[in-house]
This record gives sequence, structure tokens and C-alpha cells, in this order.
Amino acid sequence: MKINKQDILKALETISAPGDGQNMVESGAVTNVVTFADEVIVDITITNPSLQAKKKTEVDIMKTIHDIVYEKAKITVNVKVDAPTQSAPNVIKGKSIPGIQNIIAVASGKGGVGKSTVTANLAVTLAKMGFKVGVLDADIYGPSMPIMFDVELERPLAVTIDGKSKMRPVENYGVKLLSIGFFTKPDQAVVWRGPMAAKALNQMIFDAAWGELDFMLIDLPPGTGDIHLSIMQSLPITGAVVVSTPQNVALADAKKGVAMFQQESINVPVLGIIENMAYFTPEELPDHKYYIFGKEGAKNLSEDLKVPFLGQLPLVQSIREAGDVGRPAALQTATPLEQAFEKLTQNVVEEVVRRNDDLPPTEAIKITTMAGCSAVNKK
Ligand SMILES: Nc1ncnc2c1ncn2[C@@H]1O[C@H](COP(=O)(O)OP(=O)(O)O)[C@@H](O)[C@H]1O
Ligand SMILES: [Mg+2]
Repeated sequence: MKINKQDILKALETISAPGDGQNMVESGAVTNVVTFADEVIVDITITNPSLQAKKKTEVDIMKTIHDIVYEKAKITVNVKVDAPTQSAPNVIKGKSIPGIQNIIAVASGKGGVGKSTVTANLAVTLAKMGFKVGVLDADIYGPSMPIMFDVELERPLAVTIDGKSKMRPVENYGVKLLSIGFFTKPDQAVVWRGPMAAKALNQMIFDAAWGELDFMLIDLPPGTGDIHLSIMQSLPITGAVVVSTPQNVALADAKKGVAMFQQESINVPVLGIIENMAYFTPEELPDHKYYIFGKEGAKNLSEDLKVPFLGQLPLVQSIREAGDVGRPAALQTATPLEQAFEKLTQNVVEEVVRRNDDLPPTEAIKITTMAGCSAVNKK
């Protein structure tokens, strides 16, 4: 049996593309078709990064070709997910960050609300969806990414690129990682001033061999102090995600967090709020939800502040355990937790897409270069 490429394209025209009423071929989703005897290779590019969407596209294509063209065709479907891109690359006053498309700051007003847990799980979920992901752990008060990614004993190695020595990020679970924790002793309470932290972070971005990244997530220190101003002002952040529990004291701090990003001298778009530890469901009572820290507090806050609500994560023992053993819970497959993380991550990606459609790239504000380090001009 020799399969004809035109027959394949005709068959694919019967599959509708999501949303716009066009079929898959018209919409440009089918980027290449190769046929060889009874084999067919179809390359597809989709914009919906969810695992279900990927799986569904694959299954639809296989079924259609088997039904319409040849029931014994050997089919390979390569699905590529199109990452949202900014209309111009990230730029810091003439200093571009080549290869890094979107930088997302993960922040919380209060410590201990699960900012790092959310960062780690967003990162592995993005990687599972096919994105190229890096995490920059900027939490000088308590860098926890090395533990959460089980790379505590590893250190970034030096590599030479174009004659320059660069740090190569450590990698696990398909995520590249640099942490301030790789450069400080674990039991050392680090007291850094804003400009020092900003300098260290600048080095971890510009003097590191990240390669191509669709997303870089930054786990910020908790709070809204000077150090945040320095970091925000020296990096071109695409958008910020604020994590809070539904509890009043956490919400009050989350509000300050949102206000910090929105203030004129920072002006980083807030992609939305994530409610962590939204409720507790005991394993033996899966239908029960206990609102330990209050109900929907963060959801209500997002409505008050008119910023998007990105979703809720339950308080689950396995999330904590997974963090402690260094294997983020979202890596589990076919569990309700995986689905929860996927939904959340998809919402974040959608907000990034919306933000990049609506707004120009964020520019870092006023920077003067002093002895190779970026210091912030305070007004
Ligand atoms: N949804 C959750 N369910 C259970 N434990 C959680 C959850 N989110 C965070 N934790 C646990 O709470 C503690 C604080 O979380 P962490 O991510 O370190 O917070 P932060 O970075 O905001 O200080 C950690 O022990 C973590 O494992
Ligand atoms: Mg943390």
C-alpha cells in the first residue's frame, strides 16, 4: 500500500481546529506531512498546551487517517506546542536576554504560604507540557529549590561559550535550575541588601548558559521590601503570580504584594493570584472539603483587586511530602493533583498569552552600570 499525501491532507481537513471554525489544515496547525509506503508522519503545532489537548489531537489524527485513508497506516504524530512569545524579546535597556521568552516572578506577601511549592510544581508541569523551563531561586532568606528538585549536593559547572565562562544550570525533571542556595552555606542566615541580591541575580541570568527558555520562573523572597524593588527594577519581568492562602493575615500581605507590582516605578503586570491550601480533603473522606484557613479568601481578593484568579490548590499531605523528598507532586501521573496543577498551569499560560497580546514587553526601569553591577537609581 502506497499512501498518498493529498489523501492524508484531505482527511485532515475533516478535523476542525479548536475555536475558530476552520479545519486543521486551513488553520495552519498541520505544518508538515510525509508519506512513505504505508507510513505517515504528521507534524502539528498547537497553541493549547494541556496534555489532554495534545493527546486528543494525536488520537483524532490517527483515527481519521485510519478511518478515511488506510486502516493499517503506520502513523507518527509529532505535536509541537507553540510557546507564547512577546512582541519583542526581553530587554533591559539595551541588554537583551537572548533565548528567554517569558520571565514570571512568583511572589507572596507572607512566607510559608507555598510560594516555592507552587513554583516547583508549575515548573515541572510546564516541562511536561513541552515547554522549555528554567527556575531561578531568588529567595535569599530560604532558598528551597535545591531540596524540592533533589539537587542539593549538585553545583552548577562552568562552561565556556564564545570564549566566555558561564555557569551551567543544574537540571532535573526537565527543568533547569539555578539557586542562590548553590552559593551560600545552608545554615547561613543570609543578610543581603537589595542591590547585592539584584547583582547576584543578574549574574545568574546573564552569566549563565540557560539556552533557549520558553519560561523562566523566579521564586522571589517573601515580602515587599527594598530587595524586591531592586530585583523588579533590574529584570524585565513579563508578569507576576501572587500566591496566598485564604487566611486574613496572608491576604493582607498578598494585597501589598499586588500593590507592589502595580506601583508606578515597578509596573509589572500581575498575571493573577493563586490560592494555596484552599481546603483540606482527608484521604479517607475524598468528598469532604475542610476550609481550614477560611473559604475562598484569595479568590475574593482577586475579585476586589480586579486581577485574574488562577486557581486553587488543596492542602494535601502528599504535596508536602513530595516537596521534602525532592520530587514535586505534579510529577505524579493520572492523579487529581496532576490535573489540579495542570489546570493551574494552563491558566498561567493563558494569562501570559493575553498579557503579551495586550501589552508591550516590560522594561527594567532605571539602571546605571557601576563596576559591572547593576545598581538601581532610587528616585
Ligand atoms: N498545598 C499544600 N499542601 C500541603 N503542604 C503544602 C502545600 N503547599 C505548601 N506546603 C508545605 O508548606 C510548607 C511551606 O511551603 P513553601 O512552598 O516552602 O512556602 P514559601 O515558599 O511560601 O515559604 C512546606 O513544608 C510545603 O511542603
Ligand atoms: Mg520558599
